[in-house]
Amino acid sequence: MSGRGAKKVAVVGGDGIGPEVVESALAVLRAAGAEIEPVFVEIGLVRWKRTGIAMSEEDLAALEECDCILFGAITTPPDPNYRSVLLRIRRELDLYANIRPFQSEKLDFIIVRENTEGLYSGREEMDDEQAQTVRVITRRCSERIAEKACDLAAGRRKLTIVHKANVLKSDRLFLKSCQEVAARRAVPCEEMLVDAAAYNLVTNPGRFDVLVTTNLFGDILSDEAAGVIGSLGLCASANIGTDHALFEPIHGSAPDIAGKGIANPAGAIRSAAMMMRWLGEPEMAGRIEGAVQKALASGAKTPDLGGSFGTAQVTHAVVGYLKEI
Ligand code: IPM
Ligand code: MG
Repeated sequence: MSGRGAKKVAVVGGDGIGPEVVESALAVLRAAGAEIEPVFVEIGLVRWKRTGIAMSEEDLAALEECDCILFGAITTPPDPNYRSVLLRIRRELDLYANIRPFQSEKLDFIIVRENTEGLYSGREEMDDEQAQTVRVITRRCSERIAEKACDLAAGRRKLTIVHKANVLKSDRLFLKSCQEVAARRAVPCEEMLVDAAAYNLVTNPGRFDVLVTTNLFGDILSDEAAGVIGSLGLCASANIGTDHALFEPIHGSAPDIAGKGIANPAGAIRSAAMMMRWLGEPEMAGRIEGAVQKALASGAKTPDLGGSFGTAQVTHAVVGYLKEI
């Protein structure tokens, strides 16, 4: 860690399987010797049912006050007026880069998703006959996500800019902005239409290295990529801003399996590893990632991967390998 003493980490279990997988991640962090001070913050659907609000201003301030956030999952209530808590956190803390690494024995690529604008602009209206959402793309946000993608592409093969510029003017600006940044940074770069990228992800995922794209395309392609890797439960993400960051598995709250003890903790544990890297502990992050890889290779698999291990057993296996590494 860069500074001295424990880092304050806001811990949001959330709803459904969120608390279960976050508990696993915390157990692995403890076993790895992470110097963190957890600050538990209750937000989400359970909180909303209990108090009528999903996240207060004080909660947001508490999140902001910590060094970073370890996040489980939140269920969206069936209320048209409900505003997604996760989207609000991303927006308020300006967590502009959503970084999603996809790794298996054969594959290794990263989706870098713009996390603050595009079709998630919040600029929309609806009546009984018509609804519209404004797809906002700015040069500023396109350039900063391209910079982040170029940082990640350094030392790797190439950057692929994924867009729909043949139809959308907004994506012409996105493409142009990203190309300019890549040229300035001397990062080898190609571009690809999003529909072709969706096809190639399934037919030839090995051709990709670092992909950069707009908000909704990144949302959709990252679930597709998780399917290609084998399960949503395996995949981690980092939502990074200038001075804040939130780490979360890319799966949702999966209410159908909540409380059964069978949720795959790998995505949450890998998210915790990304967090330690961001906190300045790359060696520890690498050890945790290595232990997850070994546990999976040894057959410690939850039902989403065709195995019969429970969440606690997988966690135990990861902790075991951590001691060996
Ligand atoms: C994700 C999720 C969120 C998104 C939802 C929960 C608002 O699907 O992180 O990928 O759309 O960004
Ligand atoms: Mg998603």
